[in-house]
Amino acid sequence: MNEKTKYQLMKNRELLKGYQKSDAGEEPTDQQQKLPGPRPLKEKLGRGEISLPKDFGELSINGNFLELVTGRKSRRQYREETLTLLELSYLLWTTQGVRNMAGHKNPVTFRNVPSAGSRHPFETYLFVSSVEGLKKGIYHYLPENHRLELWEDRQDYETELTQALCGQFFAASAPVVFVWSALPYRTEWRYGQKAAKYILLDAGHICQNLYLACESIGCGTCAIGAYDQECLDELLGFAPGPSGEKDYECTVYAAPVGRRKEEE
Ligand SMILES: Cc1cc2nc3c(=O)[nH]c(=O)nc-3n(C[C@H](O)[C@H](O)[C@H](O)COP(=O)(O)O)c2cc1C
Repeated sequence: MNEKTKYQLMKNRELLKGYQKSDAGEEPTDQQQKLPGPRPLKEKLGRGEISLPKDFGELSINGNFLELVTGRKSRRQYREETLTLLELSYLLWTTQGVRNMAGHKNPVTFRNVPSAGSRHPFETYLFVSSVEGLKKGIYHYLPENHRLELWEDRQDYETELTQALCGQFFAASAPVVFVWSALPYRTEWRYGQKAAKYILLDAGHICQNLYLACESIGCGTCAIGAYDQECLDELLGFAPGPSGEKDYECTVYAAPVGRRKEEE
């Protein structure tokens, strides 16, 4: 290993410790400086609003927690079956649903997953090809009202999405592909340089909930960390980065979902 690679690995390892060596003279965070906090939710920018059903009692949910945990695995083969809107709604609710909000000046959301300081820096985008009641396209989840908006009216995303997911066609061709982005400033406002570590820790909780929720309704998923950052960001219309802008947003994680094949 050459010195340059070694140095880069060492820099990356600093992320695991949650701080940079130069932290000694770190300035107070924006929260400590009493700067106004960022909105805890992205404003509505897409088209239309689709209410999501919440009568989860109608779903046949396997409630044995031990079975769900021990039966969980990454599933990469899905039936050619359409998911219901209620199933999709359940997966969105369990991964990023907002239970309640608190605070007037700097509101925070409380959700079905934990997040450092309840900063919840993520947004959820869906590449939908086969969900009852939704036309094929790219959607954005509005967790405050548990709704979807149409992010991009695109029927032909499969080739680009396959490329963005580093050729993983099994993922790009799933009935629905979850893509999570982060708006780092939501967490940086409070934690400054430690934010990057917390954001990545937070992402794991979301995907784990998706795995278990999928298992509970006969679906399957597979975490996707191998993706092309520029391609996926571009596909969702994010500005190239990284930048120091407060509204900077980039993709961090993805996961295809489909009804699982019994033999899997
Ligand atoms: C952060 C992360 C990134 C991953 N990225 C991919 C991926 O890009 N493609 C893939 O097929 N599996 C991916 N996986 C799934 C792992 O390969 C899988 O979890 C591992 O092989 C263990 O199998 P299991 O999940 O069935 O226990 C990823 C898992 C994690 C946690």
